Amino acid sequence: MSGILFMKTQQLEALRNFYTVRLGCQIWLEQADCLIVRHGNLLIGFCGRDETDKDGLITFFYDTRDEVDQLYERFKSIAASPPASNEKYRIYHFFASDPDGRKIEFQHFEHRVDRYCAGDEMLLSRRSVRDFEETGIPEEILTQVLDLSRFAPTSRNSQSYYFKLIKDRQILTSLSETRGKSSAPISKAPLAVAICSDPDLSKRHVQDGCIAAYHFTLAAWFFGLGTCWIAAMDREDAKEMLEIPQNHYIATITPLGYPKQRVINPPERKGLSWFFR
Ligand SMILES: Cc1cc2nc3c(=O)[nH]c(=O)nc-3n(C[C@H](O)[C@H](O)[C@H](O)COP(=O)(O)O)c2cc1C
Repeated sequence: MSGILFMKTQQLEALRNFYTVRLGCQIWLEQADCLIVRHGNLLIGFCGRDETDKDGLITFFYDTRDEVDQLYERFKSIAASPPASNEKYRIYHFFASDPDGRKIEFQHFEHRVDRYCAGDEMLLSRRSVRDFEETGIPEEILTQVLDLSRFAPTSRNSQSYYFKLIKDRQILTSLSETRGKSSAPISKAPLAVAICSDPDLSKRHVQDGCIAAYHFTLAAWFFGLGTCWIAAMDREDAKEMLEIPQNHYIATITPLGYPKQRVINPPERKGLSWFFR
């Protein structure tokens, strides 16, 4: 489900240039006399008409204050004033106007909000997180992450995987010490999750477990939670600690928590051609 907010304009071409070239929106759809642009999850339609809708406010929001500051540098000439904090709404923002004189706003929420991003943005922005805030994860968020994780594909729909939440500090510390620096992130978060699978339920339990684990990392990211795939956790001692049967498979044990940094720069990736053989 999604939606579009349509507005009338007398200068469609000027808006096209402003929203796509200057602001970086993508063209989502061109219709006869309407242009629908996309900014993350927001769809705005502008239609060429004899009058202009100027009421309301279009707000673009960003993960960090820095991004708002950078946008101010870019849009100084059309900004009403420099960015500032607004205590009432706990936002950092500035206003500007588009070519129609329509009010637009660039802002950052200074408190946590649920992630609201499009699928492509979610896949592009996911990062391995190794440093976490101490803040615990609300029970209802955890439930939603696990609920979404139920939709991972499995061989013959065997649903052979399961999640083991690890909150015990002593266990977290022991697990984080198993492989030095590589396993250290496990105890940096308020909790960790072992994503396991049961060979009695599927011949492909290793694949089922790994796919479920990645599905879990994406579901967690959707709710603003960071994870990090920690390898080599399918170990006898880890299973003993967690009371997991020795014949079960542990795809990974990942820390789970709110990332300390809002934006984490991606490690370099090879160009697209590398991935075609
Ligand atoms: C199979 C696998 C094993 C990994 N093992 C570890 C690990 O033991 N410790 C760790 O800190 N990160 C581990 N990672 C995370 C990778 O280092 C990380 O995915 C990679 O550097 C790319 O960064 P990104 O996830 O932020 O895009 C592992 C990732 C995968 C897929």
